[in-house]
Amino acid sequence: MNLLEISNLKLSIRTDEGVAKILDFVDMEVPSGKIVGIVGESGCGKSTILKSVLGILPRNAIVERGSILFDQTAILELDEKTLANTIRGSRIGFIPQDPYLALNPVFKVGKQLMEIMRWHRGRSNGSGQPKGSDSSDREHLIELLGKMQIPDPEAALERYPHQFSGGQRQRLLIAGALSCKPSLIVADEPTTALDVTTQREILDLLEQVVQDFGVSLLIVTHDLGVVTRICDEVVVMYAGQTVESGPTAVVLNEPLHPYTTALINCHPDRAVGLQGIAGTVPTLIDPPSGCRFRTRCSLARDACSTRPPELKQIKPRHRVNCLLTDSGATQPVSET
Ligand SMILES: Nc1ncnc2c1ncn2[C@@H]1O[C@H](COP(=O)(O)OP(=O)(O)OP(=O)(O)O)[C@@H](O)[C@H]1O
Ligand SMILES: [Mg+2]
Repeated sequence: MNLLEISNLKLSIRTDEGVAKILDFVDMEVPSGKIVGIVGESGCGKSTILKSVLGILPRNAIVERGSILFDQTAILELDEKTLANTIRGSRIGFIPQDPYLALNPVFKVGKQLMEIMRWHRGRSNGSGQPKGSDSSDREHLIELLGKMQIPDPEAALERYPHQFSGGQRQRLLIAGALSCKPSLIVADEPTTALDVTTQREILDLLEQVVQDFGVSLLIVTHDLGVVTRICDEVVVMYAGQTVESGPTAVVLNEPLHPYTTALINCHPDRAVGLQGIAGTVPTLIDPPSGCRFRTRCSLARDACSTRPPELKQIKPRHRVNCLLTDSGATQPVSET
């Protein structure tokens, strides 16, 4: 069963230069209890997807089409108050990119994390009167910090953020995201600010969290190594469009979209020498018609400029948005 379903999402942002078509034909799903990664070059709309899910889009954003269904709730139709009170930070937890910036340096860690729990306790029953008690929050938090392998959790609550390392701070924030018992956690490049060894530890921890707490995780990353390590499924974004999605092993070993192939060929583990993708992501104010990757694609044909973008199912859960797969021309496609 899918916990999150984004269908045919089209989103624009008004800028001084014109209306930027930031997302178009975005389709993706997060099954219950699974880890889904979103990959793509900088500016492809990865963070904007997470912002749409959390309901924190900028004021100048216009949702032109599509839906986001979270646990049967149509997120885009909720008003800000309902989102803040019943979804964001409670049923959907968030892990930020930079653990050094996410905690307030002047307050003790326990005060900051418990404040969030208290706030949501008050909102969850609509009365504004918190249910439960501060002491039960504290106990819950101490238990969570222990599970996040923070040494001496009780003492940790009385410490300030600067008294923790970057990796430990990310553990505190993961505990914070779990504190209101969400069913989905979204994370925007949660390991980018950390050194390689710590990155690995945090990824292992996230995998453990998904198993132990039964949550789903939607994680944005530009690193295919992260996808290989922890993601069950991957969604490849290019210039605001979903170009390919499916089980990680299938997409990374048998990519069907030329952009996915190009991205894989850039990865240091696979690249022969230093490789890149010729050209740059196009301006989203006036993006190419049809497939937005066609201007950088060596396999592009005239029809790529007119084919309406559409994800086609190729194998179970493996979908691709490319004219070449319509006729089976990129690579052999075997039905299972
Ligand atoms: N508030 C905004 N106003 C105008 N344009 C915006 C705004 N937020 C995002 N954009 C544009 O939307 C596009 C997608 O941005 P987004 O941050 O989602 O990309 P991303 O894939 O997360 O990139 P990165 O890997 O660099 O974080 C970019 O072209 C960006 O400039
Ligand atoms: Mg981003």
